[in-house]
Amino acid sequence: MTIDEKSRKTLAELGITDAAGVDTLFAEVRALLQAERTDLLARGAASAVERDRMCKELRDRWLARKNGILSTIDEKWLKAASKELKPAVGKSFNAVRQTSAALEIAALVKEVPVNARAEENRESSAAARTAAPEFVREVPSDLTLPGNRRPLGSLHPVTQMQREIEEIFLNLGFRIEDGPEIETVHYNFDTLNIPESHPSRDDWDTLYIDAQTVLRTHTSPVQIRSMEKYGAPLYIIIPGKCYRHDNPDASHSPMFHQIEGLAVDRDITFADLKGTLDFFAKKLFGEKIRTRFQPSFFPFTEPSGEVSISCIFCGGDGCRVCKESGWIEVMGCGMVHPQVLRNGGIDPEKYSGWAFGLGIDRFAMMKYDINDIQLLFQSDLRFLQQF
Ligand code: PHE
Repeated sequence: MTIDEKSRKTLAELGITDAAGVDTLFAEVRALLQAERTDLLARGAASAVERDRMCKELRDRWLARKNGILSTIDEKWLKAASKELKPAVGKSFNAVRQTSAALEIAALVKEVPVNARAEENRESSAAARTAAPEFVREVPSDLTLPGNRRPLGSLHPVTQMQREIEEIFLNLGFRIEDGPEIETVHYNFDTLNIPESHPSRDDWDTLYIDAQTVLRTHTSPVQIRSMEKYGAPLYIIIPGKCYRHDNPDASHSPMFHQIEGLAVDRDITFADLKGTLDFFAKKLFGEKIRTRFQPSFFPFTEPSGEVSISCIFCGGDGCRVCKESGWIEVMGCGMVHPQVLRNGGIDPEKYSGWAFGLGIDRFAMMKYDINDIQLLFQSDLRFLQQF
């Protein structure tokens, strides 16, 4: 006789007359309740909807007010028990009630796994009893819901500018080189002909790590490194970060970006430098742009020059940006000093060269009309999304 059948008979009808008999009978009830619960957990459900249905079915089978097993037992066993047996039946019945609390839906639903293998589990229920909980994997109840979209990023304006400049020189046959940002005094100053007394070596301009090591103040040290590495002829550009002891303001940042250009070959003249930089400016800002070279001084170039381009905003008529001059100064340049060639292991009797250095950030600011260099380094999406 099953528990279902037994529950519909009275204890007298079942022939139970003492407390021991009551205990045994209720032990059987509890074991069945536990087994049915464990079985459901082991099988799992193929979907959340099915899980909810299965949990409700099990709960109602035992706990429904009308015709639930516990109600029937209450009716047939407890209420109808003889005076002598009632205390024993009451005690056991309470124990079953406590056990059956685990069948309440809220608790049960949390424990029944939802997984696609629930069907298989049902077939091999015994194996699944131990294995199933391992397969717990949430399958979204609605597979037509849209997925999580991850926003696409874009290149930083400084990177965009750098790539544009690189592209122009790559097309002219230059190669891209780089060097360390933590640089020796030897490469950053000494081999570039910058004397110990030069103001740029001052603590106030240069960030020293120790007496012999600095954060490079320009990309020019890679000139020497590349000459040593490759010798002549050499056509390279060197993009990278540089550092100076500057207080941040609208036009200064202690970290900024430069691109260095270097051409070393036989018979390189100042005309090559002018022609190349004029071509470069026209490629970058348009055919109407004019270039102007003015004498300047750098210890590592002789002669040295400062390059200006006709104002890209007013076309040279004069405006606020060019301070009514019609020109914007954009870079330093010159013919590589013979001593610098020698320091790089190149014979200045056989070879000559030109070099330039420009600030990528300043070019990006001009090109994209940005009036504060700090905006480039604040990682504010409202700013960056405009590019
Ligand atoms: N290194 C110089 C600077 O940082 C720029 C420069 C490079 C000038 C190459 C001449 C030649 O200001």
